[in-house]
Amino acid sequence: MFVRPIVIALFASSATLVKAQLTANATVYTPGLGVCGVYSSPSDYIIAVAAPIFDSYPNPICFKHIIANYQGRSVDAIIVDRCADCPGANLHFSSAAFSTLVDQSAGHIYGVQWNYE
Ligand SMILES: *[C@@H]1O[C@H](CO)[C@@H](O)[C@H](O)[C@H]1NC(C)=O
Repeated sequence: MFVRPIVIALFASSATLVKAQLTANATVYTPGLGVCGVYSSPSDYIIAVAAPIFDSYPNPICFKHIIANYQGRSVDAIIVDRCADCPGANLHFSSAAFSTLVDQSAGHIYGVQWNYE
């Protein structure tokens, strides 16, 4: 039987153009002195990232920018802290960053897509 080689070049080239998105649940937290060593306030565009992500990223993850998308809105925020009790790729946002995505009264949101800038 004659077997044709399968063309995979298209997959390889498109994969480099689109970063895989991480899916997270997100909420607001009250920032202070984060593990990255800086104080942040609710008006700063910052986040705490889930411990599994924080701990496994090749150091340093501190001060990396992420872009988070939710229901057609997006925000650019800087990682300043580690969320010890967040599973998966979940995020805690400052109120400034959270309210760029959704009304703050939403409290918790599900299905935020994010990746490093
Ligand atoms: C996100 O929230 C949903 C709804 O509560 C839950 O089923 C899911 O397990 C959560 N995922 C993570 C990673 O926390």
